[in-house]
Amino acid sequence: LKVDPFDLVVFGGTGDLAHRKLFPALFRRFLDGQFTAPSRLIGASRQNLDDAGYRATICEALQRFSSEAGRTDALKSFLDIIFYVPLDVGADTGWDLLAKKLSADPSPVRAFYLATTPDLFGMIAKQLAAHGMVTPGSRIIVEKPIGRDGASAARINDALGAVFAEQQIYRIDHYLGKETVQNLMALRFANALLEPVWNSAHIDNVEITVAESIGVEERGAYYETAGALRDMVQNHLLQLLCLIAMEPPASMEADAVRDEKLKVLKALAPIDVSNAAKLTVRGQYRSGASEGGVAPSYTQDVGKDESMTETFVALKVCIDNWRWAGTPFYLRTGKRLPQRVSELIVSFREIPHSIFSPESGKISKTRLVIRLQPDEGIKLWLMLKEPGAGGMRLRYVPLDMNFAEAFAIYAPEAYERLLMDVIRGNATLFMRRDEVEAAWRWIDPIKEAWGQSNEPPRPYFAGTWGPAAAIALVERDGRSWNEEI
Ligand code: BG6
Repeated sequence: LKVDPFDLVVFGGTGDLAHRKLFPALFRRFLDGQFTAPSRLIGASRQNLDDAGYRATICEALQRFSSEAGRTDALKSFLDIIFYVPLDVGADTGWDLLAKKLSADPSPVRAFYLATTPDLFGMIAKQLAAHGMVTPGSRIIVEKPIGRDGASAARINDALGAVFAEQQIYRIDHYLGKETVQNLMALRFANALLEPVWNSAHIDNVEITVAESIGVEERGAYYETAGALRDMVQNHLLQLLCLIAMEPPASMEADAVRDEKLKVLKALAPIDVSNAAKLTVRGQYRSGASEGGVAPSYTQDVGKDESMTETFVALKVCIDNWRWAGTPFYLRTGKRLPQRVSELIVSFREIPHSIFSPESGKISKTRLVIRLQPDEGIKLWLMLKEPGAGGMRLRYVPLDMNFAEAFAIYAPEAYERLLMDVIRGNATLFMRRDEVEAAWRWIDPIKEAWGQSNEPPRPYFAGTWGPAAAIALVERDGRSWNEEI
């Protein structure tokens, strides 16, 4: 489906996100014929480049990060709609040039993507307004992290809100654009089977694992000030939790969905200095065997002798409401874990009574495994009878749905979907101000408790599943992380 003609300005247009994610995603949508002429993509950053110079950097980035870069004719046409404006946000230069460029050939939809550090968000919004670039058809897209705590997030939101109406602000959490994450809504609300049992009477516990095998890469400077709690839990993991736990929204309208997610965030049982030691584990990787070699430690990665920044977090989260009281949600995320895998695992309660003899074998809990990446798919683990005349032997087997095999069509990357949603004006998969701030309100006391404890993060070797305490966190409850991963 084609979108209206648009101008998209990417601040931080020479940065890592623009190269790695944004332009490859835009190229893919362009190839699919989704753009309507005369749409333009305008990079803006401090580097002193002209259009040709910028196109060359984007061409190079696509060669590295897009599997479609071999389609040279299409690539050439794509580069033709890319422009550049050298602009220094802090030094107040380049804004007039940008304003001129935009007004020369105005498109009905004007989107500003802020792929910069959050401390520039407010200033950019102000300058856009001061230079008359904000039109009724304008929208602004901001990347996470929105601030580093509740107070700074509120300040950023105030600054954005002074220029843009809330409906014009698109706060990206790219996990919401992942195909399987959206499928979670289809699974829950397009089937009659699950919703009646989707509560603590039937669900024993939920695990959310977002594991990465990479370290902090070139983002050490940012990561050192953030840590896994701010980088991953405040946004991606809490958003996943919301989608699993929320009540059915009345529709897919942005506010209907966001209202329900907000209620979950508000119902999260507080974790603070009184219980953080019991409910949280933080770790930091040491050097270890990883990805076929030996990975350096986190402190080596960021070039420091020591650091209090966590690269791994495990949490036991409870939701204080009727649906979920009594069902813990175990969350974990980390860098330099054995593999890149994101999974949601819903374990149902044990059967109340077994009619089978002990020789039939152990009866495991029914489990629904939703794999977000890689190999997106859904598995429902059930007990069934093993074929044969040897009596009733029970086996734990999966009903297995692998998206790539089942649909055999290209699954768009999260940014492809989200960028086009912005142009269409569909905010369902973006975060509203109150959601972001509610998430911070829950995160801040955890951070404070860690700060007060003065204990460093627990060490774990690169290539392992985090500190042993993360295993103990779940085993204390008589459960274990799903070993099937
Ligand atoms: C980003 C984090 O939001 O998500 C990164 O800042 C992390 O630290 C990335 O690596 C993970 O995203 P994905 O899509 O690769 O799972």
